[in-house]
Amino acid sequence: MITVRNRCELLAALNVPAAEATESVAFVPTMGALHDGHLSLVRHAVETGSLVVTSIFVNPLQFGPNEDLAAYPRTEASDAALLKTAGCDILYLPTVDDVYPTGFATNVTASAELSACLCGATRDAGHFDGVTTVVARLFGLVQPNSAWFGEKDWQQLQVIRQMASDIFPRIEIRPCATVRDSDGLALSSRNARLSDTDRKAAVAIPHSLGFARQLARAGAQPTEIERAAKSALGEAGFSVDYLEIRDSLTLELLTHLNEETLATARVFVAARIGQTRLIDNSALIGPNPQLEEALAPQTSMASTARAAVTG
Ligand code: PAJ
Repeated sequence: MITVRNRCELLAALNVPAAEATESVAFVPTMGALHDGHLSLVRHAVETGSLVVTSIFVNPLQFGPNEDLAAYPRTEASDAALLKTAGCDILYLPTVDDVYPTGFATNVTASAELSACLCGATRDAGHFDGVTTVVARLFGLVQPNSAWFGEKDWQQLQVIRQMASDIFPRIEIRPCATVRDSDGLALSSRNARLSDTDRKAAVAIPHSLGFARQLARAGAQPTEIERAAKSALGEAGFSVDYLEIRDSLTLELLTHLNEETLATARVFVAARIGQTRLIDNSALIGPNPQLEEALAPQTSMASTARAAVTG
């Protein structure tokens, strides 16, 4: 694996004969503090036989003044070692000046429909514009054939899909399933900041998704599901930013579940415990093996779900 720290080195690495001989370039953008969720994207990209480029860049544009830019974990040396083992070919580790040099003047505005709700409504303004701007900039530099993103950040995935289809139609956007800890909590760089007690309580997040799925299967409607799952999170000590049922692709709020709307319905959650904000999501019906496997031993919420619906 080659590590490059600026645009010139990146372009040189992408132009070496070995790279030219490779059929395609696969790109995995990250902000570092890598865990198995990030590495699963890299491994999937490696499996395609492409030249794999990973970027680690904590993008200031997507953090608001009240958010955790300064506190964002930075673990460069161990990240590089993990990427090497996962089979990454080029690690791009730029500075802020390299990505946004003096004179950089273009911002890419995220789709209003996709970015106004959920995290767009509860984080500082401009978060998704910061994401689309940096991803477009990185796409321009790396010029990949495919780019790999996690379903863990489902709204971000939809926003980027739209941006890529509008501006980079030749880049294939490849989604990857959420990687979870054995108790079901989605892996996140922010989990490292949870105290032991909060980490134990955090299992309430995947449980709230499992609970919503149980209730939907039992015939409950969105208002009822949202109320019950929010209250379970509250009892676990979380302050809920949102718990909503929306269409997977348009992100429109669903107020009624029937056979048609259920097919693409998704439950989205963001909640805070201590100083940490966690997000997660799941399809409301259909298989979610990662979630179900982890939650299988926990039947308490499932029986509460049945009781809530049957009275
Ligand atoms: P970051 O939070 O570092 O995530 C990088 C990629 O890893 C994203 O596509 C994210 O969805 C994916 N990911 C994170 N946790 C995951 C998990 N548990 N399972 C599967 N995939 C997971 O998302 C960002 O960085 C930034 O917004 C970025 C796109 C790099 C733009 O700055």
